Amino acid sequence: MAESGYSAAVEGLDYAALQPHDTWKALRQQCPVQPLGVGEGGRPAYMVMRHDDVESVLRDATTFSNSIHNESMGPVMGELILGMDGQEHKDHRDLVARAFRASALARWDTELIAPAINALIDRIAPLGHADLVRDITTQYPVQVIAGIVGVPVEDHDRFQRWAQDITGVALDPGRAIAASREMAAYLLPIVHDRRERPTDDLISDLVTAEVDGRSLTDERILGFLRLLLPAGAETTFRAMGNCLVALLTHPDVMARVVADRDLLPAVIEETLRWETSVTIVSRNAVADTEIAGCPIPDGAVLMLMSGSSGRDESHYDNPDEWDIDRKAENHLFFGTGRHQCLGMHLARLELRVGLDIILDRLPDLRLDPSEPAPVIEGFAFRSPPSIPVVFTPMPVPA
Ligand code: HEM
Repeated sequence: MAESGYSAAVEGLDYAALQPHDTWKALRQQCPVQPLGVGEGGRPAYMVMRHDDVESVLRDATTFSNSIHNESMGPVMGELILGMDGQEHKDHRDLVARAFRASALARWDTELIAPAINALIDRIAPLGHADLVRDITTQYPVQVIAGIVGVPVEDHDRFQRWAQDITGVALDPGRAIAASREMAAYLLPIVHDRRERPTDDLISDLVTAEVDGRSLTDERILGFLRLLLPAGAETTFRAMGNCLVALLTHPDVMARVVADRDLLPAVIEETLRWETSVTIVSRNAVADTEIAGCPIPDGAVLMLMSGSSGRDESHYDNPDEWDIDRKAENHLFFGTGRHQCLGMHLARLELRVGLDIILDRLPDLRLDPSEPAPVIEGFAFRSPPSIPVVFTPMPVPA
């Protein structure tokens, strides 16, 4: 998030750039490991541009550490599993991993995910027009993660605002810190309540969990929640917008997918490759090493450019083309190795169920010809600010 919680602030990176793909392409071709200005703590920083190099850094937890996240995000988000290494990371990750296993998610599909998207569509289906970002994507994943975590779903507007402020830390650190404090003040009474009266939500799992025979402190629990709420909301709402833009700007593929929903997983995986919502993951070197022949000193900050790796011409044919018939498998857009995204099964489920219900309930869905075409934009996080559409109005089922 640097903009993203997944990445650390570095001088010389233009986080305000809206269309970085051409720059990333030129840099990939010039040199796959690009020296930057200085990163956190005044240390040298490098951008890693290519798929195979990004993958090998993510898989090497001995030479590369996640502690960079504590420096960049610690002041804003407190203690995070994202910033832990080794056994400490494993112990804490195991506590929440259970809740996000693929097999644990079936329950949320019918209890939370489908009802959330259906309720949002009820509001627009009779109108025949909508902005899918304003009316659907900014509200849907945040409601789902709020429900799973166990905070009141009706407060989703606040979570969305906090998530955006926290993930915008590189652009406005003061605002991110204020949002994080407000979020903690809001969450703490809920944590205390669950200590008294546990229910079946994730906060209750955390207050009753133990590491080495000791309960988690309030600060550690807030660390989980401060990461899960933005990670669950910001990333997936943007990914859903990108999938919708891809479909709506490729009407031939849209027609195939409307007729055959088994194509939705290919739409989702190919869109993550073509336009991932999280374009940077960061690490720091903990030994002198090299990447693609470039010497990297101990302590260096590494920006692993997963958004660039998805367009790496040495890994994908015609990488700028969105093509659901390619096999975009084995990609890095949920990370890989020990810190691989805990929410990836949830994200895929939300995207598949959400897109499926949108296509069912908004027939003849197409871009609104009277509005500008949607544009995917952003540097560390990418998504369209709006998606104006029209469709055949439908009554809300009784
Ligand atoms: C399309 C949506 C998503 C994308 C693209 C995405 C991307 C990522 C990436 C790249 C990482 C690795 C970070 C690293 O190695 O430093 C990660 C980690 C993580 N993600 Fe996601 N994510 C998404 C959805 C979610 C959701 C829905 C959740 C909610 C539970 C979530 C929770 C997490 C957590 C907790 C971690 C840290 C795991 C660890 O440190 O062990 N993510 N995500």
